[in-house]
Amino acid sequence: MLEALAPQPADALLGLIKLYNADPRPEKIDLGVGVYRTATGATPVFKAIKAAEARLIATQDSKSYLGPEGDMGFVRALIPYVFGAGFDLSRVDGMQAPGGTGAVRLAIEVARRAGVRRIVMGTPSWPNHAQIVAASGMELVTFRHVTAEGTADLDALSAALAEAGPGDAVLLHGCCHNPSGVDYTCAQWDAIAPMIATRGVLPLLDLAYQGLGAGMEADAYGLRTVLAAVPEALVAYSCDKNFGLYRDRVGAFYAVTGDADALTRAMANGASIARASWSMPPDHGAAAVRLVLDDADMTQMWLAELDDMRNRMREVRDRLAAAQQVGTIPMAPLGIQNGLFSMLPLSSEQILALRTDHGIYMAGSGRINIAGLTSGNIDTFIDALRAVTV
Ligand code: LMR
Repeated sequence: MLEALAPQPADALLGLIKLYNADPRPEKIDLGVGVYRTATGATPVFKAIKAAEARLIATQDSKSYLGPEGDMGFVRALIPYVFGAGFDLSRVDGMQAPGGTGAVRLAIEVARRAGVRRIVMGTPSWPNHAQIVAASGMELVTFRHVTAEGTADLDALSAALAEAGPGDAVLLHGCCHNPSGVDYTCAQWDAIAPMIATRGVLPLLDLAYQGLGAGMEADAYGLRTVLAAVPEALVAYSCDKNFGLYRDRVGAFYAVTGDADALTRAMANGASIARASWSMPPDHGAAAVRLVLDDADMTQMWLAELDDMRNRMREVRDRLAAAQQVGTIPMAPLGIQNGLFSMLPLSSEQILALRTDHGIYMAGSGRINIAGLTSGNIDTFIDALRAVTV
């Protein structure tokens, strides 16, 4: 029976982790999977999380089941950060999900059960978005996310929305666009929100990098602007990056609507999808986040650590942008892009040459993880880039 299974290509991005680990060259540079690294190349556990974990171990008296919605204290503690301090709490409810991926999966499946048949999405996007849409059986309609000038393509989104209507959902990255680093400006979000509302399209907002772009508040601008204009939306949230909890898989799915009955149904459907998929989300990381957010000192510690991350990435971006032009690659745009990622216009041969000849690992799309660069390797990277592009 099992021989009937179609072979599956290995996940290219996750495959890079193995390739990088197997490379014996000490000077190798990992610009692959989206994991923050310090100036010394480490991905340490946040101090705030360590403190919360210590408290959790000291105080947790049971690991009994919580239910498919997970830790609701965690889910509610995030609400002011995501939706804003004054957000109408009667409009929103949520549930925990296993990472941002679990949250996107819940959002897409709830949308499908609500009658959505097409997902409209800018490309390039995080490759898993298309895979999750494909797994749902819905149609994916794409438009161009980045203009030739390197800005977010509002005209392309506008044209895609003009072709869409009720029964369609538009999937938008809240901030720190993955893979391009090219975000909509505030003025563009101001224009996008009424367009979505006018077309009656369901917004599906993926916020996986809040705090890594311009700050916790600024990175929520697009999401909050859209939510102020539309009656309903679905939100997928990840704490994997901004709390450094990657492998603990910490995410949340929220539904926003003005209709109390619709909100109850959205949560009940989310819970039934969760029950049939993973039953209940893993507890540890979400409980640690809840403890951080419930304690003013730990919250300050976390926000300061997040500031350090963002500032370091900004420094790396400034250094890259200062190079102006490296071989055929214009570097200045990297200085105005946001978050962990940027995309370099490299051919697959050039990406392969960077890996084989220089030990530099990046996604096949030309996406680089900015945080993989440090003062110790950035010049090596720029020299290698020049060598493969002249
Ligand atoms: C990435 O894009 O590198 C991260 O979001 C990790 C992942 O799950 O793909």
